Amino acid sequence: MSQRVYIFDTTLRDGEQVPGCQLSTDEKIVVAKQLEKLGVDVIEAGFPVSSPGDFRSVVEISKAVSEPTICALSRAVAADIEAAGEALKHAKRGRIHTGIGSSDIHIQHKFNTTREKIIERAIDATKLARTLVEDVEFYCEDAGRADLQFLAQLVEAVIGAGATVVNIPDTTGYCLPDEYASKIRYIFENVKNVHKATISIHCHNDLGLATANSLAGIQVGARQVEVTVNGIGERAGNTSLEEVVMALNIHPELGLHTGINTQLIYPTSQLVSKMMRMQVQANKAIVGRNAFAHSSGIHQDGFLKHSQNYEIMNPQDVGVDKSDIVLTARSGRHALKHRLELLGFVYEKNILDNLYRQFLDIADHKKEVNDGDLVDLAKSLERA
Ligand code: KIV
Ligand code: ZN
Repeated sequence: MSQRVYIFDTTLRDGEQVPGCQLSTDEKIVVAKQLEKLGVDVIEAGFPVSSPGDFRSVVEISKAVSEPTICALSRAVAADIEAAGEALKHAKRGRIHTGIGSSDIHIQHKFNTTREKIIERAIDATKLARTLVEDVEFYCEDAGRADLQFLAQLVEAVIGAGATVVNIPDTTGYCLPDEYASKIRYIFENVKNVHKATISIHCHNDLGLATANSLAGIQVGARQVEVTVNGIGERAGNTSLEEVVMALNIHPELGLHTGINTQLIYPTSQLVSKMMRMQVQANKAIVGRNAFAHSSGIHQDGFLKHSQNYEIMNPQDVGVDKSDIVLTARSGRHALKHRLELLGFVYEKNILDNLYRQFLDIADHKKEVNDGDLVDLAKSLERA
C-alpha cells in the first residue's frame, strides 16, 4: 500500500530569508491560506524571537489557518523556545522547531563548544519545548557534514527527550544523493527508538542536488520532506515543493504519495513569485515558463503527433492551462500549419511551403514569431 510523505513547507521561513523576499504579516497570511488550500501538512510560519513582526506573523497565521500544523523556529535557546511557544498559543496544532549545529565545523567554529555540551543543550531544549507544545521537531543543523556516529547519538538523545520529529538538514547543500541516503539509512539502523519519531529531510541546493537528495532520503524511509514553493531559500535555495511532489506523483511504483492538490501548484507558484518579487526562471522544472513549451521542429512534430512523445505529465495536472508551441527559426512546417489552422487559415501543401519560406525569413530576424506576424503573413499572401 502507498505510504504518505508529509509536506513541511518553509516558504514563509527559510524562503523568506532571501534578501528582498520579506513579506508583511498580511501578505504572509495570503500565502499561508494558499498553502492550506494546496494541502501542505505543516507550515513553518516564522522565527518568532527574530523580530516583533515575525512573532506577529506566527500569531496571525495560527489564527487564520486551521488545517496544517503551524510550526515556529527557535534556536536551542530558552528565550527563543519560549517566544515560539507564546506565538503558537492560538494554533490548533502547534509545533516548535528547535535545534543546534551537529557538524564539528559548527560545533567548533560557531558554538565554540564540545560534542558533549551540544547533546546536553539539545536535550534541555527539547524538554523545554515539550513543556510548551506536544509536537517538537529537532533540527541537527549541518547534518550533511556531521560525523555519522555523533549524529546518531544526537538523534537518539533528542528522541529520548521527547522530540516527535527529527530533521536531518543538509544545511550547506554539500551531500551527494547516495551519501545523503546512507546517512538517513544509518540513522534508521543505529538509533534506538528511531520509530518513535518521524525522520525529516531538509536539503539546500548549493550543488543543484536538493531535489535528488530529498528523494534519496525519502526512498530510504524519511517520511517528512521540507520544501519551499519555487525552491526559494538561502543562497541557491531549498528543495522545491513542486519537484518532489510531482516526482512522487509520476512515479507511483515508489509506493509513496503526498496530500498535495497538484492542480494548485502553478497558481501557488505564481502567487509566491508575485508576492516575494522573485521571478521564476524560465526553465524551472514544473512551473517555469518553458516547462511545457516546445520550440524545435523535431519536438514540435513529435508533440503534435502525441503529447506524451515529449511530455511526462499533463500541464493541467499542475494547473497550467495548456502546452505551448513556440514558433522560432527552429520550428518546422507541422508547427506552422498547426498554428495557422488555430488562427483559421487552412492551406494546401504548395502554398504552405511558400509561406514556410517567408516564415523562416521573419523568424531569422525575430526571436519568436507571434500570432500577429502570422496573420499579417497570411493576409499578404491573400492580397498577392
Ligand atoms: O538549513 C537548515 O539547517 C535550516 C534549519 C534551521 C532547519 O534551515
Ligand atoms: Zn534551511
